[in-house]
Amino acid sequence: MAEESTWHIRPERAEDAPHIDSLNEHSFGPGRYAKSAYRLREGVDPVPGLSFVAMESQALRGSIRFWPVMVGMEMSLLLGPLAVQSDLRGRGIGIALMKTGIEAARVQGHASVILVGDEPYYVRVGFAAIPRGRVRFPGPVDPSRILGLSLKPNVMLTMMGEVRRARIDHPVCADGAGVA
Ligand SMILES: CC(C)(COP(=O)(O)OP(=O)(O)OC[C@H]1O[C@@H](n2cnc3c(N)ncnc32)[C@H](O)[C@@H]1OP(=O)(O)O)[C@@H](O)C(=O)NCCC(=O)NCCS
Repeated sequence: MAEESTWHIRPERAEDAPHIDSLNEHSFGPGRYAKSAYRLREGVDPVPGLSFVAMESQALRGSIRFWPVMVGMEMSLLLGPLAVQSDLRGRGIGIALMKTGIEAARVQGHASVILVGDEPYYVRVGFAAIPRGRVRFPGPVDPSRILGLSLKPNVMLTMMGEVRRARIDHPVCADGAGVA
């Protein structure tokens, strides 16, 4: 008999924030603040309606958020952080969180999603490597890990330029890369 999943995905709520912080701390460690993708989130709120959590027995097991970015002159979404509690990985929670978030992004009318990550994992939800040199992140990023997904026909074919924050919500924190 197939194993019944005991977790479900629901939209993130305000009270989830400390649990998500703790999950990200455990999943990425303090080094996460030095990452290029973190610079793009600094001083910026995640896109409303695209943050989801995986819950099991009232406990938070996974989280996904998306941030607004510009790639060249085009708006896009930056996927992540995506994290699943370490002892519960390999049960499909990460893929389910991404599928839910990506579908919500499509419904909101977003054109594309980009991220920095392992292609063999993200290809499972439709991501593909962006040809080398076309999309540039601030700071050092392995170009083979820059991936994209079109939510509207062929958006990835023409996407090019530098990735920057699409807006700044908290200017007091916004030191460094600014909007053009
Ligand atoms: C990456 C992560 C979110 C995956 O969550 P998960 O719930 O275990 O993922 P799923 O159960 O949906 O998928 C698991 C499958 O993907 C594969 N997979 C997981 N990470 C992978 C990777 N980096 N590269 C290739 N395959 C990967 C697993 O081997 C497994 O394969 P299988 O289905 O053939 O057994 C989780 O491992 C995690 O939180 N890691 C730490 C934080 C992180 O690196 N986040 C991603 C960068 S933002």
